[in-house]
Amino acid sequence: MTAASPPAPALGKDLTGLERLSGDQIRRVLDLAVRFREISDRPIKKLPALRGKTIVNLFFEPSTRTRISFEFAEKRLGADTVNIGASRSSVSKGESLVDTARNLEAMRIDMVVVRHWSAGTAAFLASRIPSNVINAGDGAHEHPTQGLLDLLTLRDRFGKLEGLRVCIVGDILHSRVARSNIYGLVNTGAEVAVCGPRTLVPAGIEKLGCRVFARVKEAVEWADALNVLRLQLERMQGGFVPSLREYNRVFGVTRRRLAQAPRELVILHPGPMNRGVEIDSDVADGPHSVILRQVTNGVAVRMAVLALLAGRESDAPAAGQPRAGA
Ligand code: CP
Repeated sequence: MTAASPPAPALGKDLTGLERLSGDQIRRVLDLAVRFREISDRPIKKLPALRGKTIVNLFFEPSTRTRISFEFAEKRLGADTVNIGASRSSVSKGESLVDTARNLEAMRIDMVVVRHWSAGTAAFLASRIPSNVINAGDGAHEHPTQGLLDLLTLRDRFGKLEGLRVCIVGDILHSRVARSNIYGLVNTGAEVAVCGPRTLVPAGIEKLGCRVFARVKEAVEWADALNVLRLQLERMQGGFVPSLREYNRVFGVTRRRLAQAPRELVILHPGPMNRGVEIDSDVADGPHSVILRQVTNGVAVRMAVLALLAGRESDAPAAGQPRAGA
């Protein structure tokens, strides 16, 4: 009789996207995030899982949620962290990304979290340096930890992802969140749709396994949950929509539209929100919204990803373990 072989690692050396992660791999990350989640409710929010590890957060684009939640996740796991932005690094003097990474490598860092405007940056870095690389958003390609935290938030609310109907509404063309959501949801057995102006829905997106709705009314009638995306005006050179007011009139997620749904819809938004454009305030702050729950889950998911890449999965609190003193 042979001993049972250990399970395959949930993640490899890096996390650059969700496209190639199986449903089982994704579920393992989400299960581990649930175990780490209770750390953030403790009076002392610390575990030594990453003690002795050094992590660089390399953000070439602005970020509130992703950068801060990575930093919290790293600190709650005991890592030593350094934050670098493009304007305060030597990239602003013309240094290439690879030279920046090589210099970081020479300082013997263990992990790099990178956000960059160019698709493929994380994978490129991952192929050049031995440190673990985590993609915190690369151009319009992927934002895998956002996808994972969206999946966890949906699973919390519905108890499962299989068979769930999720429609992503808004600027699909420029959105890395849309792609990571589509891959993650399809790979875990959910049904996915996208809805937006024809100019902002990439041709052939159905090949990723999703359907396309031209009108929000159709999306609202079909879906269990809407993931609402902002117009990424900073990535638009041409006139993709006639005006923001017109966009809100045709594609905005409003209380009046939600009232037409045949079931209670759950509303997600990755942030930052443009209230009154893609989503109205009474929806964003209303009973359908899980938007701040997404933010809470972001820290837990990032703790799980960091621990898995560092091979410290076993340092997480046991599932369902009651909190000391609770
Ligand atoms: N969701 C998200 O990526 O937000 P930030 O740009 O604030 O990190």
